[in-house]
Amino acid sequence: MPAIVLVGAQWGDEGKGKATDLLGSSVDYVVKFNGGNNAGHTVVIEKDGKREKYALHLLPSGILSPNCVPVIGNGVVIDLSVLFEELDGLEARGVDTSKLLVSANAHVIPSYNRTIDKVTERFLGKRRIGTTGRGIGPTYADKMNRVGIRIQDLYDEGILRQKVEAALELKNQLLAKVYNTRGAEVDDVVEELLAYAARLAPMVADTSLVLSQALDRGETVLFEAGQATLLDVDHGTYPYVTSSNAVSAGACTGSGVPPTRIDSVIAILKAYTTRVGEGPFPTELHDDKGEFLRKTGAEYGTTTGRPRRCGWMDTVVGRYATRINGVTDFVITKLDVLTGLDKVPVCVAYDVGGVRHDEMPVNQTDFHHATPIYEELDGWWEDITACRTFEDLPPNAQAYVLRVEELIGARVSAIGVGPGRDEIIERFPLKPAVAH
Ligand code: GDP
Ligand code: IMO
Ligand code: MG
Repeated sequence: MPAIVLVGAQWGDEGKGKATDLLGSSVDYVVKFNGGNNAGHTVVIEKDGKREKYALHLLPSGILSPNCVPVIGNGVVIDLSVLFEELDGLEARGVDTSKLLVSANAHVIPSYNRTIDKVTERFLGKRRIGTTGRGIGPTYADKMNRVGIRIQDLYDEGILRQKVEAALELKNQLLAKVYNTRGAEVDDVVEELLAYAARLAPMVADTSLVLSQALDRGETVLFEAGQATLLDVDHGTYPYVTSSNAVSAGACTGSGVPPTRIDSVIAILKAYTTRVGEGPFPTELHDDKGEFLRKTGAEYGTTTGRPRRCGWMDTVVGRYATRINGVTDFVITKLDVLTGLDKVPVCVAYDVGGVRHDEMPVNQTDFHHATPIYEELDGWWEDITACRTFEDLPPNAQAYVLRVEELIGARVSAIGVGPGRDEIIERFPLKPAVAH
């Protein structure tokens, strides 16, 4: 023990990768349990006095910690070409990737689902979700429809062929008759998937069993969510969400480790808010303040390069994240980005048609029409990137963190003050010492 779940509190890109990397050196296993290569985590590491940047999509960020076993759980959807591209890229930079384990029950993203993702978005026009176009939605839909392809199917060619045939029977009709696009050939799909089988074989495992045994031995397991609370398919701003469970509960279904074994939940909360793709966003800024956040915070997508929509901190969202995930600790990231503002607004509640909402509105329509009610806190001008204790922070930056902490209802245990691995203030220990 312990088992720690790490989630995003907002709409993604909160800095989960950096936080996982920070914990990576003290954990034995890092598990990705949901999503696929729609995620994009940037980790900045100091190596021989130089800053090195790593962009990870499919692999858990723990792969950068030499003693950590990275695990891709059953809840993940895997684009095999991306998996090997990413592994090769890391190997070329001297990262040891040989410990990676992949669940036999994880689903693969066949090439036809990338096509369907893109043509569906085009077809939806102005009603589009703004997906990453990686085939995530169609692959999770196949899983639920029971026409998905699993990793283990690559090791039984007869079964694989049957499953691809079954899936394409319908999909090719859809592609040709609705989307007016060329379908896929069964042989091509089977051949492409089989080409990865031999290289993948040593990584394939019953990862639920591996993790259960690791916890029995007293080892530490960190579950790293892709995406975030408001992109969760059940608890997010549906339909403007991803197609998996990105909240803490998803760690259990996505890994085969039960809720009774989870000890703590760390949520990563950016000091302001960003969102990529379509969907409601009450504190979004369309003015020069939004541009300030985008420029200062370098808010451009790691996966698609799209400019991220930017806005102020929304503590209604933060409070919701505390409740839905059972957050024990928050990490506030990118506090340094707010340096140099006269006033820092914090959304404390919404006004919907003259009615105050302190909690997330029940109806999505109300959320679309929510106007933020702000509290204006005083800003600070001092460079905070060298601060390493809470007391090092200027009084107004401390007051900002304490007010946010009060509003979100769980303690802020760490504060990011820069992208680098060591640019963090550790206020309280993040690893619980729990004996079961
Ligand atoms: P993830 O998807 O949640 O892992 O987050 P991303 O990697 O997509 O986006 C977070 C970005 O913020 C990355 O470029 C990080 O290097 C950067 N970052 C993380 N923490 C901090 C911080 O405290 N300050 C600053 N300035 N940048 C940070
Ligand atoms: P990380 O892990 C931010 C968004 C997409 C789109 C919606 C659905 O880096 O925080 P999808 O391709 O998943 O079907 O797209 O979800 N989205 C993300 N936004 N960060 C992410 O991951 C995201 N993964 C998906 O932009 O709006
Ligand atoms: Mg990201």
